[in-house]
Amino acid sequence: MKPIKKIGIITGGGDCSGLNAVISGITKAATFNYGVDVIGYRRGYLGLYLNDFIDLNLKSVSGVMHLGGTMLKSSNKDNLFNYRIKNEDGSVEYKDVSDVALENMEKEGVDALIVIGGDGTLTSARDFQRKGIPVVGVPKTIDNDLPATDVSFGFNTALGAIVGALDRIHTTAYSHDRVMVVEVMGRNTGWLALEGGIAGSADVILIPEIPYDLDIVVEKVKERDARGNNFSIIVVSEGAKPKDGKVHVRDVVEDSPDAIRLGGIGQVITDQLSEMIDDHEVRYNNLAYLQRGGTPTQFDRLLGLRYGVAALDLLMQGGMGKMVRYRGRDISHVALEEVVGSGETGETSKGGEKFVDPEGHTVRTAKSIGISFGDE
Ligand code: F6P
Repeated sequence: MKPIKKIGIITGGGDCSGLNAVISGITKAATFNYGVDVIGYRRGYLGLYLNDFIDLNLKSVSGVMHLGGTMLKSSNKDNLFNYRIKNEDGSVEYKDVSDVALENMEKEGVDALIVIGGDGTLTSARDFQRKGIPVVGVPKTIDNDLPATDVSFGFNTALGAIVGALDRIHTTAYSHDRVMVVEVMGRNTGWLALEGGIAGSADVILIPEIPYDLDIVVEKVKERDARGNNFSIIVVSEGAKPKDGKVHVRDVVEDSPDAIRLGGIGQVITDQLSEMIDDHEVRYNNLAYLQRGGTPTQFDRLLGLRYGVAALDLLMQGGMGKMVRYRGRDISHVALEEVVGSGETGETSKGGEKFVDPEGHTVRTAKSIGISFGDE
């Protein structure tokens, strides 16, 4: 294998807090330990296609670790193996433009990639590895839904945002004897709602893994009223669905590896509860992108740095085609094909999602302290 002298970094998919810590960790360790150059492609794979990049060095990564978002910008579109091209006549076609990326890398002398992203971004990472580019992946998602890792950075910061919001919502809910519906992200999994809801003292938590019955939610509100707790906080995951019902789709983004965008179920539930509850006003809050932005927690800074340095070490030791992961309290690695599946190149294959166990310890803890999941 060709010695690695220059590395390109890509941040793809939805942003989250801790991305800059990964970028900083890679760049600093590359400089101090290996003497290799680093560049960062801007706006995910689009930068690789357009050869749009910035130099990453000790100066350019100074002071970024504590900032949210990604200094490289991101995109959750632009699959270069199935790239959406709009022709002059308005028609749309999809082409494999990955060779353009390879030419750009060769032109700049980039020998390897470190790709930071969720399943869509990592699927393309797997496909570049198949084309002979040494690639190491780093898992990123606030949803914490990747089964290959115990936790991804960004999740802890998002939980902090949820808990902070619930603390504020509590005081206003109490003051007005209101029922407050608070929608959080998480896609098809309920980790953010579950852990944020428990830590933020929610009374009801609705998650995709446990379909809900609103009559049972109303019972919970009444039970609280009966003992003088005349307000209730209901945390609902964007992927929550009623028993025998469907998820609430907000949007379909055709050229995204994950086309379906969830969101809005909180408003639906609020409208329904307003009809069902006479004694309280019901109000809706969607925490939305407040969960993704902002200063990373110390946990996410440390995890991001550890992931970055581990990804670089792995690459320099010849361990390409892998993704670093957090298992137990250690960083190890796993094959990208195992993370995202071994499907056709260009197709967004999924290695599956990590779901909340409805019988698991965290759900049981919540139920033991009186939190309702709208199921019993
Ligand atoms: O995967 C991260 C995430 O924030 C999800 O929780 C949410 O469903 C989705 O991304 C939102 O995507 P977009 O930024 O395209 O609205």
